[in-house]
Amino acid sequence: MKKIMMLLAALGIAGVVATPAAASPADDLKHFRDYFKKKFPTVKFDDYANGLYVLPGNEEYKAQWEAYNEFPPYELGLGNGKKDWETPFPNGKTFASCFKNGGKNIAQNYPYWDDKSQKVRSAEIDIMDCGKKNGGKQAYLTADLDKDLKARVALAEITAHFYSLSKGQRISIDLSKPGAVKAYEAGKKFWWARRGQLNFACANCHMDLAGRNFGGNQPLSAALGHTTAWPAQRLEWGRLETIHWRYATCNSQVRAKPLKHGSDAYNTLELYEKYMSSGLPLTAPAMRN
Ligand code: HEC
Repeated sequence: MKKIMMLLAALGIAGVVATPAAASPADDLKHFRDYFKKKFPTVKFDDYANGLYVLPGNEEYKAQWEAYNEFPPYELGLGNGKKDWETPFPNGKTFASCFKNGGKNIAQNYPYWDDKSQKVRSAEIDIMDCGKKNGGKQAYLTADLDKDLKARVALAEITAHFYSLSKGQRISIDLSKPGAVKAYEAGKKFWWARRGQLNFACANCHMDLAGRNFGGNQPLSAALGHTTAWPAQRLEWGRLETIHWRYATCNSQVRAKPLKHGSDAYNTLELYEKYMSSGLPLTAPAMRN
């Protein structure tokens, strides 16, 4: 942590991105993309979907990552997710029955604003509601997902399968409803707010320090491309995990209290991050450091 503080100090106050003023989502998106275009002029837009590996200086990590991708360790978990997806509920239906187009090529629109419930809905929420509606017996339908690792990983596995059915589709988030814009604003606020004992915002690590290595073996990704790879499997974790678990880990890293898995705050944060990655192809599931 001392290393991060030194890195930030070295950047100086002037180098630290400031919270943007009130602007439309489209204006925010332009500023966000321009920021990374200027910071990493050699990185092609689509490449950001591959996380920290495409940033200059991370060539060795990239070579390792490509070697892992020949026999991806997440295949086992992805297979479990596929089996869960295809196994009929007691009433004979399967998960595919709950989704438009049987769940194929629709994940690029997640998470989305639901006018009826006045909430942001993630892929995990829709999968769980489908299970509950059809009398499913999966542990993740009732478990405390922050505490029950096995249940959460099973949810990450089926969500990984769901996203894999849309691999390569370009992210497209609908913010046409006033409620959607309000939820986006809440996510944006969360993203830029400093928190924890370290008083760090998401932007400090994933914009200011993107591409830097803060000690040990831990390079930092750029925020552009965030969530395109999730659910993902980190080498360190050795299992597929949900994006909300990643968020909780990032909160803990600055010694802030993580929020609940599936909380409105994390849903709106996911909406904001996904919108900021508009136009990028989905790559989930993927390997990550
Ligand atoms: C103290 C630094 C730090 C802060 C602050 C931080 N993160 Fe992270 N984050 C990391 C590290 C380290 C990783 C793993 C390496 C990587 O992919 O950047 C990571 C990874 C991620 C990833 C996965 C990226 C990928 O391509 O796999 C996402 C998404 C993410 N963080 C979101 C957030 C959000 C949202 C916040 C604010 C709530 C946040 N982070 C705050 C350090 C941080």
